[in-house]
Formats: sequence, structure tokens, C-alpha cells
Amino acid sequence: MLSEIDHVAIAVNDLEAAIAFYKNAFGVEVEHREVIASDLVEEAMIKVGTSYIQLLSPTAPDSPVSKFLEKRGEGLHHVGYRVPDCKEALEMVKAEGFPVIDQVPRPGSRGTTVAFVHPKGAMGTLIELVQP
Ligand code: CO
Repeated sequence: MLSEIDHVAIAVNDLEAAIAFYKNAFGVEVEHREVIASDLVEEAMIKVGTSYIQLLSPTAPDSPVSKFLEKRGEGLHHVGYRVPDCKEALEMVKAEGFPVIDQVPRPGSRGTTVAFVHPKGAMGTLIELVQP
């Protein structure tokens, strides 16, 4: 069901500072940048092999990511697993009785289809199912 790691998402207060860190420390550049209005976030994607580091910062003060930053500070936010079929993967999680955040798949960044699995049933890790 899980074909690859699509991205590891890191919540940051200052997107420009985070991009500068990756550039200066590791010599890597942002491949894709996007504001995801529905999630109230801006992302900067840095390619690592066939996966990405997703630097994530909130675009509104009352958004889920800004609440996350207030509560827990900067750091690991979620892991995105690439799946061939998001709907099928989500249905399997639901059929096993694990809590999900998205009942049905929805559009993600980069033209992907995504759904989030709740961290409550996943050992505290927010999981995103990503269909390219
Ligand atoms: Co993500």
C-alpha cells in the first residue's frame, strides 16, 4: 500500500529562515513552493532522492499549524506516504477502525490527492496518504 516516503513535513515559524538553513547547511534548494489556501499553510519542498522535505509555515494565526507551533514549537509535523490509490488506502485504514481526519480524499499540493490519518491511532504520528 505504501510505495515510498513522499515527504517529511517540518513545521517552522519562519519559512525563509528554514529555507536558508537547508541551503547553507546542506547546499540544497527549494524545488517547489506553494500556498495551500485550504490548509492555511505555505510549503517549500526540498527534494531528497525521490522524496521531499516539506517546510511548512502557517498563513493564518488560528490555523492548525500555528496552533501546533504554539503548543509544541518547531519540528516534525507529519509524514507523507506515497500510495498508488489514496481512496483505497484510506478505506483500508477506516475499515480497520483507525481514526482519520479526512473521511474522503481531497486535493493536496502539487496536484496530488491526499488524506490525513489521525495521530491518535498511529502512535502519535500524523500520517498523510499522498497519491501523486
Ligand atoms: Co504534507
